Amino acid sequence: MIDGVGLGGREQTAMSMTEIQRDLTQAQKMELVGLLAGGIAHDFNNVLAIVLGHTGLLLNEPLSARQLKRVEAIHSAGERATALTRRLLLFSRREMRQPRVFDLNALIVELMKMLHRLIREDIEFVTRLSGEPARVMADPGQIEQVIINLTINARDAMPGGGVLTIETAVVDVAGGPGNPDTPGARSVLLTMTDTGPGMTDDVKAHLFEAFFTTKAPGEGTGLGLATAQGIVKQSGGEITCESELGRGTTFTISLPQVVDEVAPMADPWVYSDLPRGTETILLVEDDGDVREIAGEILTQQGYRVLNARDGDTALQLLERHPRPIHLVLTDVVMPGTSGRKLAEQACALRTEMKVLYVSGHPDDVVLHAGVFDGSVPFLRKPFTPLGLARKVRETLDLR
Ligand SMILES: Nc1ncnc2c1ncn2[C@@H]1O[C@H](COP(=O)(O)OP(=O)(O)OP(=O)(O)O)[C@@H](O)[C@H]1O
Ligand SMILES: [Mg+2]
Repeated sequence: MIDGVGLGGREQTAMSMTEIQRDLTQAQKMELVGLLAGGIAHDFNNVLAIVLGHTGLLLNEPLSARQLKRVEAIHSAGERATALTRRLLLFSRREMRQPRVFDLNALIVELMKMLHRLIREDIEFVTRLSGEPARVMADPGQIEQVIINLTINARDAMPGGGVLTIETAVVDVAGGPGNPDTPGARSVLLTMTDTGPGMTDDVKAHLFEAFFTTKAPGEGTGLGLATAQGIVKQSGGEITCESELGRGTTFTISLPQVVDEVAPMADPWVYSDLPRGTETILLVEDDGDVREIAGEILTQQGYRVLNARDGDTALQLLERHPRPIHLVLTDVVMPGTSGRKLAEQACALRTEMKVLYVSGHPDDVVLHAGVFDGSVPFLRKPFTPLGLARKVRETLDLR
């Protein structure tokens, strides 16, 4: 799919294409896919924000049954496109982390439908889920990615068929990962066991290294387990492997158990009770259509909205506006002053003001800027009316 991208595309002769293909290592291919995905994500997420915003609002207006059906169809197409973009970004590992509390058992039950399609019929799938809720704090999309890779690895290890067992358990730990000696701390364990040939000590020693693969070129990148380890560690957990030649393989992931309530899985269809407010919000967004729909949603919820198309305009407004501004809602990536720079200068001007960042841009530069370590209010694009209204209220209510 990516061969020839940026290299002259169709004009390349067959000969030079083969050379190029040979020269592009798997890693470079991943990098290219990542660049491509990252490049389109910003614009594409803006487009989706417009679609989901308008259809979301329409769903709250009186519609005939026929119209409702059509608007629902557009809305769900928008959601499908959102999921697709996310998957592409996840694959290229440029997706932003969105940790939240969820039940690992519920996620596995949902995921099984897809996993069944991934494995062949000669592999028996056994699931044993813990009786008590297996609540963890992580990015559910990333955890899905980890389970998918472990499933594919097990499938590939059992070309002649076998059994793959997925199990969860909640266990007591003292001083386990993420539970530094807290009495009563518990861990959620996810184990995936296959009846494949197992691994040699040599393979075991390199398992989690990036680009380590025993698969043929084109069949594996060797990034699966390296990514999995990164994801699990980021979530305060650990991934380990037990394997012996001739005795199969078991991967164990342990994550700290969380006792908080589980956040709702998806936005409901009808946004009957969107959170409201009367505060003044400065909306900074360079895409006019996105600005318009976001402004409309917020105005409808009772807020007073000031608009700015870029950082400089926003700063002028902040200096001039005679009354309090309670929140700056700003895009992160904009031409000129970036959202982050703007926020710094804005907060110096008005110390009481809150900042909420919005972005559909998965660029590493943004990630490394330290904005998204979870401590700073952030809303992912595309947003639905409910998502926007909730996050704005939540940010305004931070003390
Ligand atoms: N269940 C397993 N049984 C036997 N060997 C395994 C198993 N899981 C992983 N391995 C070994 O570990 C290597 C690395 O796995 P990893 O998932 O990181 O990369 P990959 O599967 O080769 O490629 P990718 O996941 O990027 O497509 C595999 O190539 C394989 O040799
Ligand atoms: Mg793999």
